[in-house]
Amino acid sequence: MSGHGTPTPMTSHRCGPLSGVAEVPGDKSISHRSLILGAMAIGETKISGLLEGEDVLDTAKAMRAFGAEVVNHGGGEWSVFGVGVGGFAEPGNVIDCGNSGTGVRLIMGAMATQPITATFTGDASLNGRPMARVTDPLALFGAQTVGRKGGRLPMTIVGAADPVPVRYMVPVPSAQVKSAMLLAGLNAPGKTVVIEKEATRDHSERMLAGFGAEIIVEDTDEGREITLTGRPELKPQVIAVPRDPSSAAFPVCAAIITPGSDVLVPGIGLNLTRAGLFTTLRDMGADLTYENERTEGGEPVADLRARYSPDMKGIAVPPARAASMIDEYPVLSVVASFATGDTMMAGVKELRVKESDRIDAMAKGLRACGVTVDEGEDWWQVTGLGPEGVPGGATCASQLDHRIAMAFMVLGMAAQNPVTVDDGGPISTSFPIFEPLMGALGAKLSHG
Ligand code: S3P
Repeated sequence: MSGHGTPTPMTSHRCGPLSGVAEVPGDKSISHRSLILGAMAIGETKISGLLEGEDVLDTAKAMRAFGAEVVNHGGGEWSVFGVGVGGFAEPGNVIDCGNSGTGVRLIMGAMATQPITATFTGDASLNGRPMARVTDPLALFGAQTVGRKGGRLPMTIVGAADPVPVRYMVPVPSAQVKSAMLLAGLNAPGKTVVIEKEATRDHSERMLAGFGAEIIVEDTDEGREITLTGRPELKPQVIAVPRDPSSAAFPVCAAIITPGSDVLVPGIGLNLTRAGLFTTLRDMGADLTYENERTEGGEPVADLRARYSPDMKGIAVPPARAASMIDEYPVLSVVASFATGDTMMAGVKELRVKESDRIDAMAKGLRACGVTVDEGEDWWQVTGLGPEGVPGGATCASQLDHRIAMAFMVLGMAAQNPVTVDDGGPISTSFPIFEPLMGALGAKLSHG
């Protein structure tokens, strides 16, 4: 329903204390990468805990179209029988990546150094997002692209028949661009070097190493430099996908702002490239603790315990932290509305090119709910109204963006009046069990 179906309005009503255990689904970033790298290995990759949201299901379909066998065993258990690096078949039809920027950009990278042609499209949100940030550097390998004005989908990529390795400094903090380049580098002979000025989520690097690629990461004067040796034989893996910190953000933030709440969100990855929200919440004075800290599959993991926190203070979120919480700013702005004082979020230009312009989408909806928001091109500031001080009572546009829809549902749980989103459909792209999971904790969500 990521923009394809009839809009389904959803309303969140002020609720009593949220309590219980919230087992959120698998990590979206890791799920996409498991399917794509599984398709580029030779043999059977077994995946458990795969996120079965629409974004990831679209990537599974795409991998089938490129020739891999992808089998759903049920209950989050999947197998991918890969075709090897350079082994993609030419798809017989257009690849529809739905709402997923990660899906389309990573798949474009993976096919760009193979001698095949593929056409990509998506929903209205994805077709409005910038793709030149990926297709321009993919041209350095020898790939050619024809798309709509402004580098928008639908778009056709003619993969390079004789790819050359590339050295590329990523100009924007984007794990998608970095990962597209690394996946393209897999089928280029020699060493492909990708440099990022700011560290972004490093799941691709970790997973490439796990699949047996030669990959070296060094901190240099230029930034974080990743060197990948092309044409490896990737060995199939057994992957247990950890639960998604970006989904955990919703029950955690809901508990923090809803009086009397005490919620446990188990098994959440605290990889430093993803955990910025939780650090920020603690800096604001949230009662958020890490229990049972451990290492799983090479990643730091903990059970998060979030309790109602009436003494939250607004802060200036360090811009250097932006990449590690880029998807969490919408729900942070909700928490900031219930804090005392201003929360300044700077260095966040990337928020304007997500599934929606997330600064615009949140600012409009928060203002409609009685919250003061100031904004500039790469910053925004929310003036908190204190615990229980947010009027609510508005209908907000989710703009085909799952995280905007969920953020406003969280707002409604503690606002004085119900909060509606015009379309809750996009939630199923990343968190298909959001409604029953939040309902079981005590949230009052209704349709209409
Ligand atoms: C993602 C990277 C981020 C993030 C997206 C998932 C990934 O996007 O917003 O939800 O899995 O690589 P950018 O790379 O555009 O910052």
